[in-house]
Amino acid sequence: MTVTPPTPDTVAYPQDRTCPYHPPASYDPLRSARPLSRVSLFDGRTVWVVTGQSTARDLLVDPRLSTDRQNRAFPMPTERIASVRNRRIALLGVDDPEHNAQRRMLIPSFTLKRITALRPRIQETVDRLLDAMAEQGPPAELVSAFALPVPSMVICALLGVPYADHDFFEEQSRRLLRGPAVVDTEEARVQLDSYFGELIDRKRRDPGDGLLDELIRRGQGDGSVRAPDREELISLATVLLVAGHETTANMISLGTFTLLRHPDRLAELRSADALLPSAVEELLRFLSIADGILRVATEDIEVAGETILADDGVIFSTSILNRDGDTYTAPDSLDWHRPSRHHLAFGYGVHQCLGQNLARAEMEIALRSLFARFPGLRLAAPPEEIPFKPGDTIQGMLELPVTW
Ligand code: HEM
Repeated sequence: MTVTPPTPDTVAYPQDRTCPYHPPASYDPLRSARPLSRVSLFDGRTVWVVTGQSTARDLLVDPRLSTDRQNRAFPMPTERIASVRNRRIALLGVDDPEHNAQRRMLIPSFTLKRITALRPRIQETVDRLLDAMAEQGPPAELVSAFALPVPSMVICALLGVPYADHDFFEEQSRRLLRGPAVVDTEEARVQLDSYFGELIDRKRRDPGDGLLDELIRRGQGDGSVRAPDREELISLATVLLVAGHETTANMISLGTFTLLRHPDRLAELRSADALLPSAVEELLRFLSIADGILRVATEDIEVAGETILADDGVIFSTSILNRDGDTYTAPDSLDWHRPSRHHLAFGYGVHQCLGQNLARAEMEIALRSLFARFPGLRLAAPPEEIPFKPGDTIQGMLELPVTW
């Protein structure tokens, strides 16, 4: 692997946002240098960053870009993530045809039809949490009282993971995704592996009715359908649980903060419930919480007048891509009326988010019910004092003090 050293004006990646709902101001040079630029990583390596939507769509369906994190040339944005590079990650970390085989086992559980059938259960969960908040009285810390438990309870029910264990797995997910030290990430992996190993062994003896149980049953059949082995099952369970609650929790907390900071947009939304689905899409575009899809080139690729060489790292910055001025008019403003379903917040191509129908349903139900139950909802601290997540992880609020 050849390493291109950064020049003094190469932008470092990733960087913290200055406002929780805007890309870091320090990415401005990248925004104006569409569709491709270079950024430097913590280890001194320079990699490509894709910043133009149409180039991103071309590249995200190009099989010469791999998602295999075990490839020595795979770009590692932080030392923490680099520390677990030798671990195989189901779905997100495997290429076709293996990826396709894994994905096909799971697709039936995430279709629009299955998720629509889950809506009453999501509504029930949301209502129960809002009842508890109302009973407790203001103020409340919305991340722990609402934004995190909603997706956490829902993904537990879907997978067949006991919610009683939520303190444990929420803490391990936090350490896995945010450290802060390298050792946190390494230990969290070990803890989650051993937790799911034990859960799967228990389920083999005493099966329930979740998705994990369904996958175990497949393996106990006549072998005519593909079934994951124990190690693959542990990895699938980890990816689904972590991706299934951390992401949506951040969209609910940051979405609420953003709406409270845009009272006109919130009032418009309140006056017309039919706008909610497009508002959810616009929030996904605007907030781009999963900001940094990673790939490595396995062959030379000619694109947009440049050559991405084999072994080059490639990063897709969704926060920049989703504010591409060639695709959106006034990309830095919130507008419920733009056709913004055409965004890259869920990625694109074969790895496009498996849980997107679920995430949309949870966000719609959570935001509608929260603002209907507490019409006077407002921040309980000055906005600039409310802490949000650092740039090297999924974006969102660390805490969200509210009152009503
Ligand atoms: C609003 C919330 C969410 C956002 C913004 C989001 C974002 C993303 C993105 C950008 C990718 C593509 C990664 C890549 O190409 O490397 C992805 C993949 C994935 N997401 Fe989500 N996600 C969300 C919610 C969920 C939920 C609720 C689940 C539930 C299980 C989930 C499960 C997955 C899985 C399994 C993949 C890997 C798919 C594959 O590789 O085939 N996500 N997500």
